[in-house]
Amino acid sequence: MNRISTNCLPEVAEFLGGSPLKAVIGGKEVESSNREVFATCDPGSQEILAEVAAMQPDDIDCAVRAAAEAFARSGWAQLPPNERGVLLHRFADAVEKRKPIFAQIESLDAGKILGQAEGDVQNFVETMRYYADLAMHVQRRSALAVAGHEAWTVRQPWGPCGFIFPWNFPILLAGWNIAPALAAGNTVVIKPAEDTPLSTIYLGRLAREVGIPDGVINVVPGFGKVAGAALAAHPGLKRMSFTGSPEVGRLIAEACGRNLMPVKLELGGKGAALVFDDVDVEQTADRLVQAITFHAGQVCCDATRWIIHRSIYERLVSACVRRMREVKIGHELDPAAQMGPVVSQKQRDRVLGYLRRGAAEGANVLLAGGEAAVSGRDGFYVKPALLAGSLDNVAAREEIFGPVAFLTSFSDEEEALGLVNRTDYGLANSVWTSDLRRASRVAESMVAGNSWINAHNVFPHGVPYAGINQSGMGGGVLSVETLFDYWRSLSVVRPLENSDPTP
Ligand code: NAI
Ligand code: MG
Repeated sequence: MNRISTNCLPEVAEFLGGSPLKAVIGGKEVESSNREVFATCDPGSQEILAEVAAMQPDDIDCAVRAAAEAFARSGWAQLPPNERGVLLHRFADAVEKRKPIFAQIESLDAGKILGQAEGDVQNFVETMRYYADLAMHVQRRSALAVAGHEAWTVRQPWGPCGFIFPWNFPILLAGWNIAPALAAGNTVVIKPAEDTPLSTIYLGRLAREVGIPDGVINVVPGFGKVAGAALAAHPGLKRMSFTGSPEVGRLIAEACGRNLMPVKLELGGKGAALVFDDVDVEQTADRLVQAITFHAGQVCCDATRWIIHRSIYERLVSACVRRMREVKIGHELDPAAQMGPVVSQKQRDRVLGYLRRGAAEGANVLLAGGEAAVSGRDGFYVKPALLAGSLDNVAAREEIFGPVAFLTSFSDEEEALGLVNRTDYGLANSVWTSDLRRASRVAESMVAGNSWINAHNVFPHGVPYAGINQSGMGGGVLSVETLFDYWRSLSVVRPLENSDPTP
């Protein structure tokens, strides 16, 4: 039953009208074995979009078996990369053709501004094409020059791979993670977040339509503690990939460790923007405010600590406060809205809780933030906020995942680098300066997986993106290395006989 009042595209209304929406296992739509369902809502209005099957551990077992069966018998793993590439390109084309449908589903389910959801769908399409092409062009076989032996290595797909995703970028992260796995010839089981399962279910159905063999892409919605935990602990998987909080990342790594299964973890962050005194203050304010309000700050690599040279601190703060007051908060489908809601009541409570705790620990409140009202919409809206003070403050140390930045000032480069690196996380930082020699020097001294210069949130295909420390391990997406992660290396060696012809 479709209970929303928002005007949807006919295809979206039809999809939601099929509620309760089922899992996709072995090419079939499957309900949960105990018929349990959960509701997913539009965080911009709290209206229920659809009910979704809550898969149980025995359902997860079926999905892993379907993926193992497809790996062994559908022919997918044995296809030459160019033939697999044809199917993956067809898949990308089909998603692109349905971009308005995917974008509206994603926008409503995640509370994501429609234009940004369109960008995420396009990113999925481009990631799929990037890996489909890459798999055709990289060398999977390397001859080894070894005296007295004929030897080579060959890279083979692992088998069924598990994926657990968070709610902030459902379709984009699906692309970043499953595209390399599929291009390499693996099969996949995807557990989307319970707040945002819809675009992934739609994706699973579409795979069938374009001729990807049944069981190659399986989608198992459900709760983290049940469906997610069963997937991470399943001995039938050959690899696991998790994107989400460090707390759950640890549980996943423990479960995989017990099965000696390789795991890729992409976790949270507490990134810094390090701003020197030679920047264009107004332009930098534009970009920083854009970054922290993008998807209401629910972005793991966001610049949440702004470390600003003392001589421009006051000017930059007032330029940012001015802009942040003007950010238009609204429903995600409202074309005038610049920032939508956060994803859930839980997430809004988390953001407001950090604002309170930060102030209680002595942070200087530059812009108070708090709950925001949007006329006619009872959603989870919050206003952007700025706190300042010592980076020992709880709001400067822990990941908030909302439109909140914590500011502090510095006098020299060495002090600034010390402040940037004073964190347990290690995902992404940015340096802002017109001195490009300094930019490179500082970029290479910030301890994290990624450094950006005069920009924040930059993800071209081909540049590895990964976190270290509390931000991840065994990870990396978006580059050629990711494709190789989804191949196991096999060495083949034969001692040469006297009768062998000399090469
Ligand atoms: P989470 O880490 O609990 O959820 C991520 C995924 O893990 C979801 O699919 C969930 O169902 C699954 N999951 C939860 N518990 C599990 C378990 N025991 N075993 C297996 N899978 C499990 O993140 P949550 O609670 O949605 O958000 C909490 C905080 O985590 C956020 O406020 C934010 O700080 C951080 N976060 C970071 C993300 C990132 O991209 N790095 C994304 C989402 C959240
Ligand atoms: Mg939702």
